[in-house]
Amino acid sequence: MADRTMALIGGSSFDSGWLPGMAEIPGSRRTPYGEASSPVWEGILHGRRVLFLLRHGEGHRYPPHAVPSPANLWALREAGADEVVAVATVGGISPRLGPGAIVIPDDLVDCTRGRASTIYTGPETGVRHIDFTRPFDEGVRARLGAAAGRAGIPVESSGVYWCTEGPRLETAAEVRAIRALGGDMVGMTACPEAAVARELGLPYALVSLSVNWAAGIAESASGIDFALVAGGMEEKNRSVRALLDAFVAGGC
Ligand code: HPA
Repeated sequence: MADRTMALIGGSSFDSGWLPGMAEIPGSRRTPYGEASSPVWEGILHGRRVLFLLRHGEGHRYPPHAVPSPANLWALREAGADEVVAVATVGGISPRLGPGAIVIPDDLVDCTRGRASTIYTGPETGVRHIDFTRPFDEGVRARLGAAAGRAGIPVESSGVYWCTEGPRLETAAEVRAIRALGGDMVGMTACPEAAVARELGLPYALVSLSVNWAAGIAESASGIDFALVAGGMEEKNRSVRALLDAFVAGGC
C-alpha cells in the first residue's frame, strides 16, 4: 500500500514554517462550509506527502471558539488527506500531566457550546449520527506512540481530554469538577475538530502538550499567565516536532 497523505493541524505552538519548502495549495481555503482558518500547505517529508493547516490562522487570528472546524477538515480532505494528526496545548490536571508532558489522549468530553460542530447541518445534508465511542483513531494513536518510542521522546499514551468553550481559562471549581468526573487535561480546541474528522471519514489523533497546571491545581498567587507559559515551551515544542517527524518517517 502506498504511503498515506498525513495532514497536520498545527496549534498555538506551530507556524507555517513547520516544514521548509512547503507550498500553499491555491484556493485551498474555500470550502462549502466557509473559509478554512488558513490555506493548506503541502510538502514532502521522508518521501511522504504531508499537508499542513494552521488551526488559529496566520497571525493567530481565530480564537478557539471561532475555529471553523468543518471548513478546516473539509479543506484537508479536499487536498487529499488520508489521516489527521492534530497538535494542541492543554492544562494538566492529572499529576502525570504537569507542564512539559506530551500526551496522546484516548478519550474526550466535549463541553463546548454554540460552535460550528458538524458537516450535517441539515436539512439538505441529510441526517447522520457517527459512532464516537472511541473519538481518537486507535491505529494513528498506536503509530504515534511507536514513533515516540523510536525517537526517544517520553509521552503519556492515554488520558481524557476535557474540552471547554473558552476563550477564558477555567475557574478552580470548574477544574475540581472536571477532575472529579475523570478529566486528565483541559483544552479548548479538540472539539468539534475530532468529531468533524470522524464525520468526514478521516482517522484523527491528537498530540497534546501540557503548558500549565490547570486552574487551582498548583496554586499560585498570580493565577495562570497563559501567554507566558505557552511561550516558554520551545524545547518541548521541539520534542513534539521530532515526534511528528518520526511519525512521518515511520510510514503507514
Ligand atoms: N485550560 C484550557 N485550555 C488550555 C489550558 C488550560 O489551562 N492550557 C492550555 N490550553
